[in-house]
Amino acid sequence: MDNNRIYLAPMVGRTDEHYRFFIRILSKNISLYTEMITCDAFLFTERKNYCVKPHENNLTIQLAGSEPKKYGECAKIIQDQGYHEININIGCPSNKVVKGKFGACLMKSPNMVADFIYEIKENCSLPISIKTRLGLDYDENIDLLLSLINKTKEAGCNKYFIHARNAILNGISPKKNRRIPVLRYSDALRVKNLYPELEIILNGGIEDAQTIKKTIKQFNGIMIGRKIYDDPMFLIDIEKDIYDKNNNITRKEIAETYSLYAIQESKKGISNYFLLRHLCHLYYNTVSSKKWKKFIHNIIQNNIEINKITEFEELFYEEKIKTYS
Ligand SMILES: Cc1cc2nc3c(=O)[nH]c(=O)nc-3n(C[C@H](O)[C@H](O)[C@H](O)COP(=O)(O)O)c2cc1C
Repeated sequence: MDNNRIYLAPMVGRTDEHYRFFIRILSKNISLYTEMITCDAFLFTERKNYCVKPHENNLTIQLAGSEPKKYGECAKIIQDQGYHEININIGCPSNKVVKGKFGACLMKSPNMVADFIYEIKENCSLPISIKTRLGLDYDENIDLLLSLINKTKEAGCNKYFIHARNAILNGISPKKNRRIPVLRYSDALRVKNLYPELEIILNGGIEDAQTIKKTIKQFNGIMIGRKIYDDPMFLIDIEKDIYDKNNNITRKEIAETYSLYAIQESKKGISNYFLLRHLCHLYYNTVSSKKWKKFIHNIIQNNIEINKITEFEELFYEEKIKTYS
């Protein structure tokens, strides 16, 4: 059992390959996730040709869909692409996803989810995990989750990421669905205690060192999304606490390393927007925060050469001297 792990939460529009490169500069240890990919998008677009890069070691691909056979077809391809694990999304509450009959609404169809697992196992030997919620709508009974775990455990899944709140399927947006239903870590802990033999990872609203220290011991690991996105240097604090006391990388060093990567990627035709959008929060909660965002937006909007991002601290420093002299 892989204990004390920290996982970066899958986030559509965020955990793309460029963000993963950025995150790997900050932490060599955090486990990485792709964005959610539907089986159809995987099978019928160039997405199926992506092979995991060496620096992305420990990358899980997250699939979503409602047709067991398609999971098997994806798994056959994924087997040789270098992924660490396949995760199934049984937690997304968006209207579009509900219409497609996948994501959180499948908590009501545990037999079907078990079929996804059987199909994947038939076609691929990678470990499988499920990311799900405590329940649906306003019902705080966790029977639906327990029944999902029981059926899928039988099929061979032994790892579950629990976003510790319900998914509300009718009416509220995915954004509100990550804030409005209350967090219930105690119910997630009940699940862990009921299944000591399973890997249970806690997700949802984790944003301070104290909560991490407490929950990481109670569960087999924790998964964090928004806090790391909004405040990337928080990952350095986590890294120091959990993995590597000597990780003292600075913002400037991060920007320098990332810019070398981005220069190469931009030569392949990737736009400044896709390469730089995830960097906007690097100076979060510092005096330079607003200036850095403006600086990055300017490079994106005016298509300025990316190697200029290494000049930021010098420019800002000069400007401060001008202001104060
Ligand atoms: C912009 C955004 C996109 C997300 N996309 C996904 C996704 O693709 N798959 C998924 O399982 N969860 C997705 N989520 C939910 C997160 O993985 C996570 O469960 C949620 O944000 C709660 O964790 P946090 O409080 O640490 O952010 C997304 C969240 C955000 C903010």
